[in-house]
Amino acid sequence: MTDPQIPNPAGATPATPIEPVWTAVGNASEWPANGGRLARVGARRIGVYHHADAWYALKDVCPHAGVSLVQGPVHDGQVMCIGHGWTFSLTSGEVVRGPQGVKVGTYPVRVREGVVEVAV
Ligand code: FES
Repeated sequence: MTDPQIPNPAGATPATPIEPVWTAVGNASEWPANGGRLARVGARRIGVYHHADAWYALKDVCPHAGVSLVQGPVHDGQVMCIGHGWTFSLTSGEVVRGPQGVKVGTYPVRVREGVVEVAV
């Protein structure tokens, strides 16, 4: 369907929205009340976190030296790398404590009928 607010030039094909591919990574009941678990989706290592009644998913490789972030403590919406203490926002993946501008990738995550799913 074409957005009535945006003119469609003659002959232009409207863009088809790309649907995310959701992958089940486990049952929500298996997660700690406040922490993360490692999920593998293909070759990707993804840390999936349950914190303060919300869900987050971050690439599970610290950009400093490659340590698994999901092993670190979670508090105040952040996870701390056990390697050297850099801390990342669970929401944005941006570093909160560490060099400015550093970031890890994030993924959409949802829970449907008790199953945690990540879109990659
Ligand atoms: S490996 Fe993560 S802060 Fe150094």
